[in-house]
Amino acid sequence: MILIIYAHPYPQHSHANKRMIELAGTLPNLEIRSLYQLYPDFNIDIAAEQAALSRADVVVWQHPMQWYSVPPLLKLWMDKVLAHGWAYGEGATALHGKSVLWAVTTGGGEQHFDIGDNPGFSVLGQPLQATALYCGLRWLEPFSMHCTFICDDDTLSTQAQAYQQRLANLLEVQHG
Ligand SMILES: Cc1cc2nc3c(=O)[nH]c(=O)nc-3n(C[C@H](O)[C@H](O)[C@H](O)COP(=O)(O)O)c2cc1C
Repeated sequence: MILIIYAHPYPQHSHANKRMIELAGTLPNLEIRSLYQLYPDFNIDIAAEQAALSRADVVVWQHPMQWYSVPPLLKLWMDKVLAHGWAYGEGATALHGKSVLWAVTTGGGEQHFDIGDNPGFSVLGQPLQATALYCGLRWLEPFSMHCTFICDDDTLSTQAQAYQQRLANLLEVQHG
């Protein structure tokens, strides 16, 4: 089972993620939890989130990039749900053997990530990758959709289809 943890602060205004979620939602054995719709008051139901994670083989963290990072509710979700004694720490094996896919959309293109002392897009995944590995999750090759500000509808749709195919392939692997 694939679990998409979807964090878009303004899902009704989305172009890129909306298409991705719509196509992903047509797949079997896939659950979508839209954090900003479930928790508009940021009051995350930790038990419900952990139960959903327990059901999943593959976890997807899908979100638009915000200031080179994740939207605040996804960060809070990690802080609360990936709890000591459950996700990490002595004897905590709840997430061991599961995989995680980082699926991110960005307004910027390649040059947008070409600044700072450690430039490059992949550097931005490091905190998420380290978090995943620390919890015993397997880190999959991320899925990214760039230049969303200037993409036309056809390009957005093509990339959303590529995302759907990626998820379908992961489901196929799970089912052998
Ligand atoms: C508060 C805020 C911060 C953002 N920061 C970045 C950023 O650091 N880098 C970037 O490439 N895009 C940034 N964006 C643009 C979003 O990533 C982009 O609009 C989104 O990926 C498009 O997906 P959507 O159509 O699903 O909303 C930011 C947008 C907002 C609202």
